[in-house]
Amino acid sequence: RQTGLTGLDYGFVNTASTRSAITYIDGEQGILRYRGYNIEDVAANSTFLEVAWLLIYGELPTASELADFDSRVRRHTLLHEDLKRFFDSLPHQAHPMSVLSSAVSALSTYYGDSLDPHDPEQVEISTIRLLAKLPVIAAYAHKKAIGQAFLYPDNSLGFVENFLRLNFGIMAEPYEVNPVLVKALDRLLILHEDHEQNASTSTVRLVGSTGANLFASVSAGINALSGPLHGGANEAVLDMLARIRDSGEGVERFVERVKNKEDGIKLMGFGHRVYKSYDPRAKLVKASVDAVLADLGVSNPLLEIARELEAIALADDYFVERKLYPNVDFYTGVIYKAMGFPTRMFTVLFAIGRLPGWIAHWREMNDDPATKIGRPQQLYIGSPARDWPQR
Ligand code: CMC
Repeated sequence: RQTGLTGLDYGFVNTASTRSAITYIDGEQGILRYRGYNIEDVAANSTFLEVAWLLIYGELPTASELADFDSRVRRHTLLHEDLKRFFDSLPHQAHPMSVLSSAVSALSTYYGDSLDPHDPEQVEISTIRLLAKLPVIAAYAHKKAIGQAFLYPDNSLGFVENFLRLNFGIMAEPYEVNPVLVKALDRLLILHEDHEQNASTSTVRLVGSTGANLFASVSAGINALSGPLHGGANEAVLDMLARIRDSGEGVERFVERVKNKEDGIKLMGFGHRVYKSYDPRAKLVKASVDAVLADLGVSNPLLEIARELEAIALADDYFVERKLYPNVDFYTGVIYKAMGFPTRMFTVLFAIGRLPGWIAHWREMNDDPATKIGRPQQLYIGSPARDWPQR
């Protein structure tokens, strides 16, 4: 018997790794709160940067605190020209999530003056740098994939406007910011800002618990988010819907194959470790999808397939018994597509949304005197001690 081992918990289903005051979830009742505020109120009344402040500093900002925060973020959007050249070394077909995590990791090579997790001023400046530069890196990953020139940020624009222009603006041509798009994207980003100890946030904490800097920790979080069971699900949902449409097999037949676990296929965008009822974020996205598409003046035939899939699944014992409901990733892709983002950018949008949560958790962990290096135990099931063979 191994000494000190108190339990085996694959996937940390029953083990809390930390205390946290940032986000509250009641998975049975479908409740999500940021710093005590219901997600429905937050999404209806706030902006991405205001929620970022709330998550990171614990309270809503005053008007002047928010204005100062906004202006500091705007002032740090530029990427070092050498870092821009780093994109040249990557292939065009690179997945934008890999580009994102690599470039964020590279940020620590440029900002050696803000790597100490125990110096409050350095933590503050690295927080601002990351919030300002991640959307720029993300937009350059997009431009790189489509072979267009990078634009310089326009710091007269707000956070979301700037991001949209960097993605969809063309060099030397004026870019008209569509306020409908801005509002819709801002709201989607808010819904992604934090979700307590999900796989990527736990990764950020685990890496940070070693004393690693914020850029290194967030880069690891981006890689954790990229998997299809986590943030990568939003991309996988749209691929699944397109496959159903193109195969002509019909939604019912596809659901049968999911239930039979044929080739291990799953209904992507369904199920959640914590929610055993409708994901409140998915509820908000679903409620707005028609309005957003109408406002943008576009339709997406895949939305009908998504609706049919949901209706069939929610009426089926397999999904009912397992308490499988749509999660946040189920309907977001339809909107992102309508906004003009390619499917491979969907998880990048999730990463921009989740960044404030990662930063808030990393800072909370470093401020907590009870923090220890994360070091899970294992149950050894290998060979007992044996003699080295005579050869
Ligand atoms: N489609 C079909 N069956 C499913 C699904 C699904 N999407 N999700 C879970 N199940 C089944 C699973 O096969 C198992 O069945 P059985 O008892 O017969 O073995 C049962 O439901 C319990 O599932 P589990 O795998 O033990 O659940 P988990 O808590 O370990 O996994 C999950 C949670 C999100 C990884 C999983 O539901 C899943 O793979 N969903 C699809 C991917 C997805 O949409 N991910 C996004 C999650 S929300 C956004 C985010 O946080 O990134």
